[in-house]
Amino acid sequence: ELSFIHRFVPATKPGRPPLLLLHGTGGNEDDLLPLGKIIAPGSALLSPRGKILENGMPRFFRRLAEGVFDEADVRMRANQLADFIGEARAAYELDAPVAVGFSNGANIAAAMLMLRPEVLAGAALLRAMVPLSEPPKADLTGKLVLMISGQLDPIIPTDNAEQLAAQLTAAGALVNHKVLPTGHGLSQQDLSLTQSWLTNV
Ligand code: MLT
Repeated sequence: ELSFIHRFVPATKPGRPPLLLLHGTGGNEDDLLPLGKIIAPGSALLSPRGKILENGMPRFFRRLAEGVFDEADVRMRANQLADFIGEARAAYELDAPVAVGFSNGANIAAAMLMLRPEVLAGAALLRAMVPLSEPPKADLTGKLVLMISGQLDPIIPTDNAEQLAAQLTAAGALVNHKVLPTGHGLSQQDLSLTQSWLTNV
């Protein structure tokens, strides 16, 4: 038994990194599988369900209010998820995955990059914000990170997303930050940008 409820889809094409799919608030382990198949055809897909329930909605860490995080919980849950990745790599014989996270899933992926950088081969952060106000000094040298933000996102001010991009860049990550003229939800452009970015990871 692995430590997170999850779905796993084996690879049908060799030589591509697995994707770690991380859902948004209220999502589950099934949600992002269709997206994963579109953006990375043939790649293995590992999709855990967040362990927190907020009014019945699964999440990856606790928050005190929208956009206000319980940072002690962020740290604990990011470490738990990083441990799960190790278990799943052993169980399914996987290379280090590339995280593809949306909203709350993007935020836990950003926290993992800072706390346990070795577990991810890279990360696509869709609608992410700063998860830790005082991040530890991580070494992300050469790690590829795609961030896609929405200029009209009512939850994430653009300067907050820019601050996250700056934190990751300062740690050595190669950050490609795109801001689309859209809101918090994903658009077709998010999928096509992520798909083409993934071909270089
Ligand atoms: C979070 O709680 O991680 C952010 O507010 C995004 C979301 O609504 O999930």
